[in-house]
Amino acid sequence: MLVKKLRLENFRNYEEETFSFTEGLNVLAGRNAQGKTNCAEAVFYLCTGASLRIRHDRQLIRYGAEYACVSAICSTRYGEISLEARIFENKRELYVNGNRMTRAVDFIGNMNCVFFSPGELRLVQDGPDERRRFLNLSLSQTSREYCTALLRYQRILEQRNNLLKERDVSLVLETLPVWDAQFAQYAARIACKRREYLSALSSLAAEAHAYLTDGAEELSLLPEREYRGGEEEVAASLVRELGASYERDLRLGFTTVGPHRDDVRILIDGKDARGYSSQGQARTAALSVKLAEAAIFRKLTGETPVLILDDVMSELDLPRRKKLLSRIDGLQCILTCTHAARGLYGASVNKIRIQGGKIV
Ligand SMILES: Nc1ncnc2c1ncn2[C@@H]1O[C@H](COP(=O)(O)OP(=O)(O)O)[C@@H](O)[C@H]1O
Ligand SMILES: [Mg+2]
Repeated sequence: MLVKKLRLENFRNYEEETFSFTEGLNVLAGRNAQGKTNCAEAVFYLCTGASLRIRHDRQLIRYGAEYACVSAICSTRYGEISLEARIFENKRELYVNGNRMTRAVDFIGNMNCVFFSPGELRLVQDGPDERRRFLNLSLSQTSREYCTALLRYQRILEQRNNLLKERDVSLVLETLPVWDAQFAQYAARIACKRREYLSALSSLAAEAHAYLTDGAEELSLLPEREYRGGEEEVAASLVRELGASYERDLRLGFTTVGPHRDDVRILIDGKDARGYSSQGQARTAALSVKLAEAAIFRKLTGETPVLILDDVMSELDLPRRKKLLSRIDGLQCILTCTHAARGLYGASVNKIRIQGGKIV
């Protein structure tokens, strides 16, 4: 997959700018706070329907502007495709080939990207939210089924949680079982898809990690909680578990059972990386996971995803940089940095210099 052209209008610090990207390596160079990450984020948004970190899309709109618009012309093995997102204060409009998509699931995953930045360390070192977010975004890009189940699950979860805060306990106890069957059905789909994904991810990440560390470390990923059986079986056991947790859920005022609470364990040499890894180890582990994600996208779609490397080169030592660059051969890569070291990237790169939200 390729992003050929990217147009930003009132997006972050860009008033209006158009980027032309080539196959292979595209280097966005510039000093701090000029708009490199913002440009990378725009590509991420078109692939995932989500911004990098923030909760509210309105933060993507340039200060003082009324709306933002991000659009791209991409090429996939099915031909050219255009993607566009118009972001307003309280809503957004998504278009594929000029047609408005009313459901986010029809927009997400038309293009796949893998994003890596120094902040991805969080995937290894922070709490479970980061790992769930990663799974959700990654799986949503490749599985419409997952994406649909997740969106419905999140809606039911919100309603169930609201119900749990209701004062009339007998009404709550009467209504909960009505929600639970549906809740468990989507929960089971999410859990089973994650199980399958994690098993593929774990072996690919182990392979990438062995490569990056010259075989010095062993990496593995495991679901923290094991769900046994197929979707129906998992759903049935979740219904029982939900039923057994009414008292606790009522007391706490939220749903304590389900994939929104599940974590993934990341192990380096059999030890929990979250508590034990050094910064360097965690960074390499996160990179291995992202390279594994790229390999999964490639396997599932038959195409290479767009790889975004935001500010990562300065954080890696030279041997790892070289190893990373050799791994990404053949992918379209958008790489941001403050100093474009010519020797490292070769002569054929497409170098774009950015200053104050403009290409210079
Ligand atoms: N909604 C917005 N409107 C205008 N400027 C913004 C907005 N969001 C972020 N910025 C600005 O973008 C700049 C950061 O851009 P960024 O792409 O992160 O820089 P870098 O080149 O270091 O990656 C900051 O100066 C920030 O104030
Ligand atoms: Mg940046």
